[in-house]
Amino acid sequence: MVELNRDVVIVGAGAAGLTAANELRKAGLSVAVLEARDRVGGRLWTDVIDGAILEIGGQWVSPDQEALIETLADLGLETYERYREGDSVYVDEAGKLTRFTGEIFPVPPATEKVMVELIDKLDALVAQMDPDRPWEHPDAEALDRISFEAWLAEQTDDQEARDNIALFIAGAMLTKPAHAFSTLQALLMAASAGSFSHLVDADFILDKRVVGGLQQVPVLLAERLGEDVHLGHAVRTLEWSDPSSGSGSVTAVADGLTVRARFAIVALAPNLYSRISFVPALPRLQHQMHQHISMGFVIKVHAVYDRPFWRDQGLSGTAFSPYELSHEAYDNSNHGDERGTLVGFVSDRNADDVFRLSAEERKERILESLSHYYGPEAKDPIVYYESDWGSEEWTRGAYAASFDLGGLHRYGADLREPVGPIHFACSDLAGAGYQHVDGAIRMGRLAASHIIEEARA
Ligand code: FDA
Repeated sequence: MVELNRDVVIVGAGAAGLTAANELRKAGLSVAVLEARDRVGGRLWTDVIDGAILEIGGQWVSPDQEALIETLADLGLETYERYREGDSVYVDEAGKLTRFTGEIFPVPPATEKVMVELIDKLDALVAQMDPDRPWEHPDAEALDRISFEAWLAEQTDDQEARDNIALFIAGAMLTKPAHAFSTLQALLMAASAGSFSHLVDADFILDKRVVGGLQQVPVLLAERLGEDVHLGHAVRTLEWSDPSSGSGSVTAVADGLTVRARFAIVALAPNLYSRISFVPALPRLQHQMHQHISMGFVIKVHAVYDRPFWRDQGLSGTAFSPYELSHEAYDNSNHGDERGTLVGFVSDRNADDVFRLSAEERKERILESLSHYYGPEAKDPIVYYESDWGSEEWTRGAYAASFDLGGLHRYGADLREPVGPIHFACSDLAGAGYQHVDGAIRMGRLAASHIIEEARA
């Protein structure tokens, strides 16, 4: 068993943990980052599958993500625009495909009117919210009592308008059914990106990609830390004592490695906190609170073709339908690659359903759904891959975690509070940048700044 002494031990080498470690090192504190997996990056993972470079995890960068954009500049990483020339497509409940441009789906005029009104109403509610303090919204408690599905039903009888507005938050973001999270949680999701309109605008929210893949962010951050990043060391136990009762300390016991430190940052998604034995146990508030947060679930499907055939039909590749198995899909061709790649998403209950099928049947069903957007050629990719984060032991879902009904108002204000020398950081705790790499970086910076302040006191 190797034993190390450091100022700060960081559990988890995702964007949050590695950002924090770099900030702490810059302030002159020594660090050790312990990572369970044999790679850095957590939910950022760029890999080569059957000769195709795929973004198995996060990939898009939007203009509001200032912390991520600063980090990309600092690391010297370049971005490129998602392909967006041509028409988008929408499939309605009857299976009818319609081409369109702009943001609003090609629905009947009355439905369009309702959708625009709902977007305006949601924008107005979001404008009253500080994403870092959603529980302070003037109607926070009432909005946290009602599911997004029920709130939409209160606003309109127009089912297609409801299905489409729900899609922007449920299938596309929180990856939970719209009955499973509150309207306050939905507003936080929108506020974290600046407005609800930003979520409706795919050209905004899915604006840019990183040349070579977004996993380069954690890879390059880890390079700066060199031997202070320890892979394949799952932390099993965190022994701690409170600094207010004298000299605070933490001992992280990982497989084959023990690190003694003054502070710890637990930089993993909250659904995994209970994988660690805290000694003594965490206080009751944390025990309760952490049980009200769970991961969403989505399958990210990658289909690579010898050429981007949809572009010949004047299609951008952007496709939506709350009635399709793959509720959204995009042109995801790599920078400088003449092959064409489509990425589609299968969310929550649809994802559960297709994972009950054989791999062959699942592939067939998903490609069939893509063919409804792009035609029969979509059924025949040269590379096909499903990102299945649900079966990843050290993540257990995708994209990120959110509160159950009522949880955000009840516990949100306590979520980022440290416990003695133990601080918490990950994208799932963020306000601005919530659920995104931007939020992970912001939370890494925040936890580091608190520790630097305490260490200097
Ligand atoms: P993250 O989960 O990445 O890191 C936590 C680390 O802790 C992991 O490396 C894990 O292995 C480790 N760990 C867990 N338990 C441990 C233990 N006991 N001991 C040691 N280590 C432990 N975002 C975005 O901005 N744009 C996008 O396009 C997308 N798209 C997207 C698609 C998919 C499929 C996914 C899964 C996610 C996205 N996201 C995204 C979200 C984004 O990837 C995510 O929010 C951040 O990468 C999370 O970074 P964190 O560091 O907070 O957690």
